[in-house]
Amino acid sequence: MSFRVVAATLALCFAADVGATAWDWTTHASRPGPDYPAAGQSRFDDLYRRVDGSYRIPYPFSALIADLEQRIDNGAQRGVRYVLIPRGRSLQRDAPAPDFFRFPRAIIALEGEPKMAEGDAGSVLEYRLFVAHQPVTETLEIISYNDASGRFEFQVVTDYRADREPRVATANRILCLSCHQNAGPIFPRRPWSETSFNVAVASQLARHYPPANGSLVDLITTDAGLIDLLSERANYLSAAQAVWQQGCASPVCRAAALRAILQYRLSGETGFERSRDDFRRDYLAELRRNWDRHWPNGLALASSRLQDRDPFVQQSMLSQDPLALRPPHAVWHEADDVLAGGILQRLAGFFSAADIQRLDRRLQALGSDRAERRLSTSCRTRAHPAPRIELVCGSSNPQSLQARLEMLLEDGKPVELRAATLRIPGDATLWQPLIDPPREIPAGLEAGLRHADGKLSQRLRSGERLDSLRLKWQGRLENAAQVTLELRLRDEFGVLEQVLTQLLHANRENRSDSLSDLPFRRAAILSDLMQGLHMPQPRRAASALPAAPTVAKPLPAELTADLALLYPYCGSCHAATGLHPPGFLAPGETLARVTGCAPRIWRRLESWRSGVRQSRAPMPPPASLPPGGNGPHDWPRSEHYRSLLQAVENLLEQQEPRAEWRTTAYDSLPVCSGGR
Ligand code: HEC
Ligand code: HEC
Repeated sequence: MSFRVVAATLALCFAADVGATAWDWTTHASRPGPDYPAAGQSRFDDLYRRVDGSYRIPYPFSALIADLEQRIDNGAQRGVRYVLIPRGRSLQRDAPAPDFFRFPRAIIALEGEPKMAEGDAGSVLEYRLFVAHQPVTETLEIISYNDASGRFEFQVVTDYRADREPRVATANRILCLSCHQNAGPIFPRRPWSETSFNVAVASQLARHYPPANGSLVDLITTDAGLIDLLSERANYLSAAQAVWQQGCASPVCRAAALRAILQYRLSGETGFERSRDDFRRDYLAELRRNWDRHWPNGLALASSRLQDRDPFVQQSMLSQDPLALRPPHAVWHEADDVLAGGILQRLAGFFSAADIQRLDRRLQALGSDRAERRLSTSCRTRAHPAPRIELVCGSSNPQSLQARLEMLLEDGKPVELRAATLRIPGDATLWQPLIDPPREIPAGLEAGLRHADGKLSQRLRSGERLDSLRLKWQGRLENAAQVTLELRLRDEFGVLEQVLTQLLHANRENRSDSLSDLPFRRAAILSDLMQGLHMPQPRRAASALPAAPTVAKPLPAELTADLALLYPYCGSCHAATGLHPPGFLAPGETLARVTGCAPRIWRRLESWRSGVRQSRAPMPPPASLPPGGNGPHDWPRSEHYRSLLQAVENLLEQQEPRAEWRTTAYDSLPVCSGGR
């Protein structure tokens, strides 16, 4: 190949990286962080780790699903969502060969609210626990959130059997992140052809998957789209934490963010006071200043989505390889109002519905002496076939109180009142709030109001509670010339504002760390809020201190000269025994294994130069190299790269001078063995 051709292919290969060098990333595969969490433990550990460090994991897999199902409330739907992936791209993909359709890999993800007893803290599981199960090897791969460290933990369970104590290990994070480049769950994009969502896959499963296997009820599930969505939501957690920890760097900013988050949840996710001065000054303005400081070239969020791949179509494209570098899901260049608000909504998802209901009830109890505000307007009755009367309240001025109500009469008496909409001036339009059965009062009626979900009271974006409404008229309602609507609101949110102020002081004086530089942690924040509101603290499952990690022994260097360069560049992923990835650097007979694998090693190294023609990602995986000039861009131009390629080439020349390894189809090259 002439120099010019090489230069041209290089340019093609790295065009994407050169752009990428500019951004900062919320997470990056080259910065996996420690395998073992510095603080806290994973959700999976919260659920199944005993205080003595051993695990109690329901077995078989169907029992694990049943156990998770009873911990989550997803209304009329199942809380555990799953798909089967008989022929996929994960590290477990070859385990069931050749019975792929008999022993498909299953993926589960959770949707819904934690089920908890009164007084329990419960654990938020929705898009925070993902499990993959391979029935042949009885292995579980687990990705689950660690609140204290603000990240997803990667774990692998082996010996998952009835007759043994399962072994749960912290995974080799840098290895997992070479495909899970977003440091979280990944999933193919629609139409999810590898999964049981694909009719062709499902019909093969129907033929081979033994119902006696008994673990999963329906073969064809429509859950693929949901798991895709849950993975995407999970993916945003890293952006939310980056904004909380770095973008909103002062306790004042975090207190303002928390106030908005609480307004958002207490109002039933209607919104929060975006135009309040302190919100704009303490949160928005600080976020913008820090954005320019930390992320002047933009903040990139890695993607959770892989390109779709159909297992029945013989095609292999580099872009379908999960190891290939993927373009970011989003790159944000500034914290505009939409982004700044969106991040708060993501953080708001750390609280369970029950957390918010408890706060809501407490505010109601404490706020009974808070100032009451009244809003009123007049209504016209609209003729309607009896026994209904429609009331249209308010003027055409959009800044005024407006309402559309409907009343049901029985024997001329109002028995039920419904609201289609209630528009509160300066705040929100409420859709179908629930109205309690009306009580008669002199010349009218009165009724309490609740949020449409029936569990929260009805609050505005400001946090004020809409206590009740009154309708008043003279004479018979049907003939009344004028009906007056009055709304009574109570400013109970003021109670919470005081608690937030105390919280801010406590954080400034280091008496609390809920607003410190640590990740956004539900437990710490709730505990401070509940203390401030003099509420009993909910019971939390004791979280056992993780056992000390065993320090990995340095590899005995069996390779010499330039071939020893394999250790620093490949050792982090290829030194453990196994086939996926092949443990060619595992101790003992390393040279023999490297020699056997040399054709594939050479091809994976060489593809850094000829990348565009290849169907497989080059090695080391491009995502695992640091972004920027000293990563994917510089590696194939480096002295070490050339020396390593030459050393492998020399090894191959000694074995097979005909050099067929240069051109043979990749899949026909000898398979790498993985150590013992
Ligand atoms: C070679 C690429 C690759 C590597 C490396 C890899 N995975 Fe995955 N993983 C996938 C793919 C592709 C999926 C989604 C589709 C599937 O499961 O087949 C996936 C899915 C998963 C899931 C299900 C939830 C989700 O993300 O969809 C878990 C759990 C998981 N992997 C754990 C791990 C752990 C733990 C490691 C490290 C030991 C790891 N993976 C390393 C490719 C990989
Ligand atoms: C950050 C982790 C990581 C590093 C570093 C890494 N690899 Fe890999 N390698 C992988 C993963 C993941 C796979 C795919 C495993 C799978 O899906 O079977 C892989 C696959 C391979 C394969 C393909 C094996 C086959 O069966 O086709 C070869 C060869 C290989 N790597 C060589 C290398 C070499 C040489 C280096 C160092 C120059 C290296 N790798 C560095 C993660 C890594």
